[in-house]
Amino acid sequence: MSEAELGGSFTFPGTSLTVHRMGYGAMRLSGPGIFGPPKDRDAAVAVLREAVAAGVNHIDTSDYYGPHITNQIIREALHPYPAGMVIVTKLGGRRPADGSWARANSPQELTDGVHDNLRNLGLDALDIVNYRVMGSGHGPEEGSIAEQVAVLAGLQGEGLIRHIGLSNVTASQVAEARTIAAIVCVQNNYNVAHREDDVLIDDLARLGIAYVPFFPLGGFTPLQSSTLNSVAERLGATPMQVALAWLLHRSPNVLLIPGTSSVAHLRENLAAALLSLPAQELAELDGIAVEAAPVEH
Ligand SMILES: NC(=O)c1ccc[n+]([C@@H]2O[C@H](COP(=O)([O-])OP(=O)(O)OC[C@H]3O[C@@H](n4cnc5c(N)ncnc54)[C@H](OP(=O)(O)O)[C@@H]3O)[C@@H](O)[C@H]2O)c1
Repeated sequence: MSEAELGGSFTFPGTSLTVHRMGYGAMRLSGPGIFGPPKDRDAAVAVLREAVAAGVNHIDTSDYYGPHITNQIIREALHPYPAGMVIVTKLGGRRPADGSWARANSPQELTDGVHDNLRNLGLDALDIVNYRVMGSGHGPEEGSIAEQVAVLAGLQGEGLIRHIGLSNVTASQVAEARTIAAIVCVQNNYNVAHREDDVLIDDLARLGIAYVPFFPLGGFTPLQSSTLNSVAERLGATPMQVALAWLLHRSPNVLLIPGTSSVAHLRENLAAALLSLPAQELAELDGIAVEAAPVEH
């Protein structure tokens, strides 16, 4: 697919890493609950190969997906990686044997996490590592992240990490991290219905820092909106395509990593980059967040 067909391109600030704005999130390639092996490993491999064949050169992952399994599938499907491929991983969590999500943010755990990613992905250095604050669920929580960012900066100094990003963070955590290391991307929960980061996105755009929404399609609670359905019907697209096109339109520093375990959904999602949204439809889509906002009592 051409650059335009993949949403144009973006260069992470201060790096030589340029990616198409339409990327792929690999979290859905492990088993139910993002734990254990997928039902069909060959299908997972096929999704990754299809993404790369279509020109996707930005893959988001973590060694705690599975755990380890998603990275091992990425390696099986794509190693040796094509030139220009940027794999972004994240540290800060771990998966105890009961499948829960726990913090893993001590210096030793972060260092071990880098080595786990390197081994399972088959790399000598990681392109971008996001420090993921485990916080409360899928929302950020204030608190200093200086110690963890300093550990990543040390691993960068050793050449094991090329660039550093953040995930599930507040604006003040981004500001704190930027006093310690150059931050190239921020990955937070954001989509057409969940827009708490509107100000942060614009601030990061001014700094040239990528904003990579996780749950672009609603994640574990798929987006459902009569407005999305109605716009999609008028434009001859699917609601998920409209949600992705809206994100691409939102700001040029927004990079997409929709997750899927299906080649059909992957193709559908990639095709969203060619969908243009007329002003009337954009205004309607902007109203979804207002409808979805919690009522203040
Ligand atoms: N930093 C973080 O804390 C964090 C947290 C969560 C996720 N992530 C990253 O962000 C990526 C995206 O998040 P996500 O995968 O959780 O959520 P998502 O992209 O919002 O949604 C994925 C879900 O939507 C379904 N889906 C995908 N395309 C579809 C389509 N065209 N039509 C209908 N359903 C569709 C998928 O099911 P099928 O498999 O059936 O297509 C899956 O259940 C992840 O893959 C991961 O890399 C990061």
